[in-house]
Amino acid sequence: MKALCWQGKKDIRCEEVPDPIIEDPKDAIIRVTSTCICGSDLHLMNGFVPTMCKGDVLGHEPMGEVVEVGAEARARGLNVGDRVVVPFQMICGECEQCQAGNFSVCQQTNRNADLAKRMFGDATAGLFGYSALTGAYAGGQAEYLRVPFAATTVVKIPKTGEDERYIFLSDILPTGWQAAVQADITEKDTVAVWGCGPVGLFAIHSAVVLGAKRVIAIDDVPERLERARSAGAEILDRSTGVNVIAALKDMTDGHGPEKCIDAVGIEAHGPTAVLELMERVQTALKLETERPVAMREAIMACKAAGTVSIPGVYGGLSNSFPAGAMMNKGLTIKTGQTHVKRWTDDLLRRIDEGQIDPTLPITHIEPLGRGPEMYKTFRDKQDGCIKVILKP
Ligand SMILES: NC(=O)c1ccc[n+]([C@@H]2O[C@H](COP(=O)([O-])OP(=O)(O)OC[C@H]3O[C@@H](n4cnc5c(N)ncnc54)[C@H](O)[C@@H]3O)[C@@H](O)[C@H]2O)c1
Ligand SMILES: [Zn+2]
Ligand SMILES: [Zn+2]
Repeated sequence: MKALCWQGKKDIRCEEVPDPIIEDPKDAIIRVTSTCICGSDLHLMNGFVPTMCKGDVLGHEPMGEVVEVGAEARARGLNVGDRVVVPFQMICGECEQCQAGNFSVCQQTNRNADLAKRMFGDATAGLFGYSALTGAYAGGQAEYLRVPFAATTVVKIPKTGEDERYIFLSDILPTGWQAAVQADITEKDTVAVWGCGPVGLFAIHSAVVLGAKRVIAIDDVPERLERARSAGAEILDRSTGVNVIAALKDMTDGHGPEKCIDAVGIEAHGPTAVLELMERVQTALKLETERPVAMREAIMACKAAGTVSIPGVYGGLSNSFPAGAMMNKGLTIKTGQTHVKRWTDDLLRRIDEGQIDPTLPITHIEPLGRGPEMYKTFRDKQDGCIKVILKP
């Protein structure tokens, strides 16, 4: 089959690889009908995530049709012909964390849990197409995908309706939603969102649906800001050279937004050329592994006793973390990989009721073979690109 493979930093190729087979009675094989490129994949492309191996099949936002099921998956109600969205994490459904709904830290699905424990102090769930650290599982930017723990992992969806209606339940819609829900938004709150990529846009949409008084969107890409405006946000354009923290204070009676969401993560661009240069030098020298510009701004801008919700991905060590501001203002920090299945039933209902537009970020629908080019188009924000769906 054809699949997008990581061959090294900035080197992604569409290659012929062996078809997946059932390896365990809990497995199913999915024929992928749609699959996406995520901002998280850019961190892999740009070499920010350790333990990637040459030839790894990428992708963690697929959906499709079940074409083969292992005996145990069948016994648990999964059948050939079922139409499913595959969340980016595998879940056993039985461990202590799954029982509590903390699916992204399932204790059973990461084959390399020991590696994750050494890196983070505890295990995380197995993820599709996302390095040895998360289990070294092949991803879904491919014609077929093996889904371990299939019966508990997949989200069954109706047989009718375009893929575009459901595909983002795999990751970015629940991620934007969780970011907003974890901010405990009330009708008195101003919510500032850093980053108007696909995750930021769904966080903005979710904050509006959850009844925020105001939502302020921060980015420097005109078409992304425009889409944020269309979702109901006021916009703060960083490209004007504005001091984001000062501007947010001005917009909010001097105190700052009650709720701040960092939907940027590891690879933020700096607020000033000097600071960005410093971060680049420090990451190059391995003095830190990321550029936490948005997280820092979110903590500094946030009103005292507010909440900072961080869906943006971080992987290692950050310098200049404003621990003093966080502590002395009494901030609440909420973060994590999204517990996708905690939210999918509710989101499916909200999509059906027309409360949520599940197609908000889509700009490009392309054949899988164009994947390597589309990674670059998405990364460089060429051609107005916000979100790419690939069709195998
Ligand atoms: N927690 C999760 O489970 C989860 C799931 C999916 C994605 N993510 C993460 O969410 C983040 C966003 O994903 P995406 O797909 O929207 O990515 P993206 O790269 O398309 O979007 C990031 C946006 O941030 C903007 N940006 C960069 N620096 C900024 C700054 N200093 N201030 C404001 N905006 C800035 C960029 O212009 C871009 O529009 C990534 O870190 C991704 O890994 C997390
Ligand atoms: Zn993703
Ligand atoms: Zn589990």
